[in-house]
Amino acid sequence: METRTILITGANGEIGHGLVSYFADHNRVRVVAMDLNTMDDNTRKKCFKVYAGDILDTRFLDSISTAHDFDVIYHLAALLSTRAERQPTIAHKVNVDGTLNLLEMAITQSRLQGKDVKFIYPSSIAVYGLPDIETKHRAGRLNEEEWTEPRTMYGINKLYSERLGRYYMSFYRQLDANPMGGKIDFRCVRFPGLISAFTLPTGGTSDFAPEMLHYAAKSERYNCFVREDTRIPFMAMPDGVNALLKLEAAERSSLSSQVYNVGSFSPTAHELKARVKKAFPSAEIEFKPDLKRQVILDTWPEDVDDSRARKDWGWEPEYDFEMAFDDYLVPAVREFYGSK
Ligand code: NAD
Ligand code: SER
Repeated sequence: METRTILITGANGEIGHGLVSYFADHNRVRVVAMDLNTMDDNTRKKCFKVYAGDILDTRFLDSISTAHDFDVIYHLAALLSTRAERQPTIAHKVNVDGTLNLLEMAITQSRLQGKDVKFIYPSSIAVYGLPDIETKHRAGRLNEEEWTEPRTMYGINKLYSERLGRYYMSFYRQLDANPMGGKIDFRCVRFPGLISAFTLPTGGTSDFAPEMLHYAAKSERYNCFVREDTRIPFMAMPDGVNALLKLEAAERSSLSSQVYNVGSFSPTAHELKARVKKAFPSAEIEFKPDLKRQVILDTWPEDVDDSRARKDWGWEPEYDFEMAFDDYLVPAVREFYGSK
């Protein structure tokens, strides 16, 4: 088996940490990692090569592309939903123009190498946009096509990038005498909110769940910015990393789509609080809803229908709600902060 070279953008982020750690334990993979911010030493040690730079800087991307032949690109770099809503033009640049730059890099790579380059892209439940809470309750679990009417800059960026990926895979420069379709093997998962025991998110709207847990483990009071009845889907970080890896490993012939929902568990904020307090009984958690961020959460679905991913590439989360807390989050977060 040949050694594969994998590019990870946004490698210094929450998912990037998990993905780099996974590949570090596996032979025959060279990880080339890049991020706007300098990579921490622990992550750096696990990579073949590390770059600090901006995905909007095409000269920088060209220099990486000429130095390596990539088999797979995991394009993780992005601005998340709350931050994107506060800086919409910057978000559009990073989330859309940045993605376009990476797709162009992938096309160039495939042309030079004479083979398809896999492009793995994490999208989000933010691509959905339900008009009001009653419709949200009525709609329940959404499949990939329902209610894709995002009301945030981030959701719009993600939905458009999914479509850009499909264009680059199937229709790129379709008027050329020799069209280049089929050179990028674009594969996308739509993630729910991810909860890691080792990193805290910044700039997301699903951050209340990981924040609640981490603040409790640090014995810090937490003012939760959503209503107690808020329900959106979540997933433990190891399952998130596993979903990307599993989709990447799937046979192309078994994939009926480029975009897949992946689900796991879907508690209310009240249920999350109860579960955190079961592990940390002295945790102080109060609900102080931020009405503007709440509006965003009320447009996201209660749950997702991931039957397409289960059927096509055998998706199945390892952790349900109880297992996520009992077997991963609580023991790992306790060890991380040295809490009891
Ligand atoms: P994160 O914010 O922890 O990491 C994103 C990384 O991208 C950061 O390290 C940041 O420095 C880097 N970055 C931002 N702008 C950049 C630029 N211009 N050039 C280079 N690097 C840049 O986010 P994450 O949770 O690791 O998310 C990774 C991907 O997964 C994102 O595309 C996000 O939209 C998607 N996603 C995440 C979640 C979640 O709950 N974490 C849910 C759905 C989708
Ligand atoms: N968890 C992300 C956010 O809240 C969704 O992609 O922005």
